[in-house]
Amino acid sequence: MNILKTIEELQEVTASNKNKTIGFVPTMGALHDGHISLIKQARNENEIVVVSIFVNPTQFLPGEDLDAYPRKDEADKKICQICKVDYIFMPEISTMYTDEEVLIKANNNSYVLEGKTRPGHFDGVLQVVLKLFNLVQPTRAYFGKKDAQQLTLIQQMVKNLFLPIEIVPCEIVREKDGLALSSRNVYLSQTQRQKALLISKSLYSAASLVGKGEKSSEVIKNKMYDVMQTLEVEYVAIVDRNFNEIEEIQLKNSIILVVAKFGNTRLLDNIWL
Ligand code: PAJ
Repeated sequence: MNILKTIEELQEVTASNKNKTIGFVPTMGALHDGHISLIKQARNENEIVVVSIFVNPTQFLPGEDLDAYPRKDEADKKICQICKVDYIFMPEISTMYTDEEVLIKANNNSYVLEGKTRPGHFDGVLQVVLKLFNLVQPTRAYFGKKDAQQLTLIQQMVKNLFLPIEIVPCEIVREKDGLALSSRNVYLSQTQRQKALLISKSLYSAASLVGKGEKSSEVIKNKMYDVMQTLEVEYVAIVDRNFNEIEEIQLKNSIILVVAKFGNTRLLDNIWL
C-alpha cells in the first residue's frame, strides 16, 4: 500500500493504471465499519482501490466541528492496509485548494433538509468530490446511502457533467443495536448513545407501518415523532429519490429521513423504501 500526498504522485498512479478498473472511496477519515464496507466492495469489484482521507474545509460551515472533527491517521492507515487498499490519498488543504477557486453550485434541492440547516455544505462536497474524481479518474466510486442527499447530488453531478464514472450506492452499516455508524458517534455520552437508539427504532416502526400497507407520510411521520418523543428531532422527512417531499409513500422511490440533535451533535439516519 502506498500513501500519496501530492497531486503529482496521484496523477502518476492514475496515468499508469489507465487500462485497469479503479474503485474509489472518498472519506474524511476516522474510518469505521461503514467506510470499511465501501472499501471492501470497491476491493471486490476493481483491480485498483484508492481511498482518499481528507477533512474537507469547504463543506463545513463557520462554527461547525471542522477543528474538532476526529482525526485518526495512523489507525486509518492500518485499516486500509488490512483491507488491501492500493493507494491512500491524504493531501494537505493547500494541496487541494488555492486562494482563488472556481466554485461548484449544487442544485436547488441542496438547500432543503440537510442543505437548509447547512446552506452551502453540498457546494463544498461537490467541489471536493469533483476535484478528487478528476485526479483519480475512477471507474467506480462508492458512497453510503446514509448520506442520502449527498449521494443523490453526486449522482446528479456525474450525470450533468457527463463524468464517465459509475456511482455505487452502498447499504447503511449499523451497530448490532441499530445505531447507524458515524464518525461523529464518538461525540456522544453514554446516555446520549442509549437515547440515540430511538432514531433507528423510529425508522423500523415506519418500515413496519409501510409493510402493513400504510402510505400516508403524515401518519408515518407522526408515528416516528411519537417514538422519538424524548429526543430533539430536527426533522423527519419523506421524499422521493429526487428529494421532493411526498405525501404518499411510493414503493421503490421513497426515502424516510431523520435528523436528531444531541447537544451540538447531529445524527442522520434513513431508510430507502
Ligand atoms: P465521510 O463522512 O467520511 O463518509 C465517507 C463515506 O462513507 C460516505 O459515502 C458515507 O455515506 C459513507 N458512510 C458513512 N457512514 C456510513 C455507514 N454507517 N454505512 C455506510 N456508509 C457510510 O461523506 C463524506 O465523508 C464526505 O462528505 C466526502 C464524500 C468524503 C467529501 O468530503
